Amino acid sequence: MPILKIDGKEVEVEKGTNLVLAALKAGVYIPHYCYHPLLPVVAQCRMCLVKIEGTPKPTPACTVYVDKDMSVDTQNEQVKKLRNTVLELLLQHHPVDCPVCPRSGECDLQNFTYIWGPEQKRYDGVRRLKGWSRVSEKILLFKERCVLCTRCVRFLEKYSNSEIQVTRRAFASDLMIFPEKFAGSNYSGNIIDLCPVGALVDEVSNFMPRAWRVKKALTRCALCERGCRIIVESWKGEIVRVKTFDNMLDKAENHLYSKVELVQPAYEEIEGIEEIGEHSYEKLYSEDLMICDIGRWGWREFFYPRDTKIMVAENGEKKEIDWESCKKILKVFAEHEKKAIFITPFATNEEMRVFSELAEKSNSKISLLPPIIKQGDKILLKDTRAPNLKGGEKIIGGVKQEVIDGAKNGEFSAVLFYGLGADKTKLNTENIKAKFLIIIDNKAPEPNGNQFIFIPATLPYEKRGTYEFEGNSKRIYPVVERRPNETEIAKFLISIL
Ligand code: SF4
Ligand code: SF4
Ligand code: FES
Repeated sequence: MPILKIDGKEVEVEKGTNLVLAALKAGVYIPHYCYHPLLPVVAQCRMCLVKIEGTPKPTPACTVYVDKDMSVDTQNEQVKKLRNTVLELLLQHHPVDCPVCPRSGECDLQNFTYIWGPEQKRYDGVRRLKGWSRVSEKILLFKERCVLCTRCVRFLEKYSNSEIQVTRRAFASDLMIFPEKFAGSNYSGNIIDLCPVGALVDEVSNFMPRAWRVKKALTRCALCERGCRIIVESWKGEIVRVKTFDNMLDKAENHLYSKVELVQPAYEEIEGIEEIGEHSYEKLYSEDLMICDIGRWGWREFFYPRDTKIMVAENGEKKEIDWESCKKILKVFAEHEKKAIFITPFATNEEMRVFSELAEKSNSKISLLPPIIKQGDKILLKDTRAPNLKGGEKIIGGVKQEVIDGAKNGEFSAVLFYGLGADKTKLNTENIKAKFLIIIDNKAPEPNGNQFIFIPATLPYEKRGTYEFEGNSKRIYPVVERRPNETEIAKFLISIL
């Protein structure tokens, strides 16, 4: 393997690795705007210029693939001067509205300027005002913040309908949106994460707290069987944003950000980050660099609106109770002879194991609830819209129609229904006929004369454990944790048998 010597550090890299990624392996960050591993190289921003030994002029690092030993200097005075010039040009027409920009704290124009940018503004001519436009139902474009890196243009060309293009030339270049062309691709949301500055804004999380104030976890999306890697962010115990993880890692570990001590959470403070390991940049940049729009926004349907209090339904009314009172009521479960337990394919392997143990010890029938099945696509999205169908098949023997029918026919006097995200057209709390019903879900049903006890379910980004995504066991990590969780409920029921 060729050896890359960069800023005095030596590292072996795979032949053909792009120099920007090869440098990251050595812990050296080469600033870049237009380069992105998902997209074709265009070398148009000139932010990544470096000095390569044996070449007469600085070279854009994104155009270089390491195929032989080479020596690179990224801290050369000429290179620093050029970076400064690029930033000065970009800032000429920029509104510098960082205090109101949602990407403040995670913007590469802000951060690069802080390190290499001009200290003063020399241009005092007329500033071009370009305003903002709507790209789609959930995405806005603030044109004055754009650095014309064309990542969004190239991404939409590849995965959608080319809704954004650059028009005019040179200094007059501008982004033009073709809303009538908007095809509603299931991947358009990725342009928000791809944008290195605050030009493309997610309208849904526009007014969320600053990037440095939120808590982050690196986990897996649970909205289909694929399990894409995602970053989940929370603020005061509530989930506020889901996004792809690569941008965050740029900022989390490399020397650039630790050098200026920016206020991003420290790399080791992020839940789930240990799974990545120390020297896995090639892996990071080859896997899961995008997510679908269902993963980005679909989780909100689980969280909002949502019941978060334990409730008991009696005489046609719901009443809030605490966990201690709930435990007293749960004891009734053990007194029933014929019992059934239904488990959602959103349950982790660990939860499924403990509910299986409960079924065995309490002599109850157990069945998986069927997942929602909808047409996926050939890019990422799978048909099975739940994370752990395979785990449920392995651990509790899958969906058992006779147990589902038994619950509908009143065969069981006590039923535990952990129904989060399952296909409730097959079995739901309305068509279960049982004297004692425990419901674990995100929303409590209306009493409608039924007697039940409702315990709020913990949602996928609120628990740790493993899912068998497409048969491969992968970890998930919580960004917030809620109590009591399902494992505690099952263990309590085991303890009273
Ligand atoms: S909107 Fe963002 S991603 Fe698109 S060209 Fe401008 S800076 Fe680049
Ligand atoms: S394809 Fe979409 S829904 Fe499926 S895991 Fe990835 S982001 Fe989530
Ligand atoms: S990242 Fe290399 S020229 Fe833009």
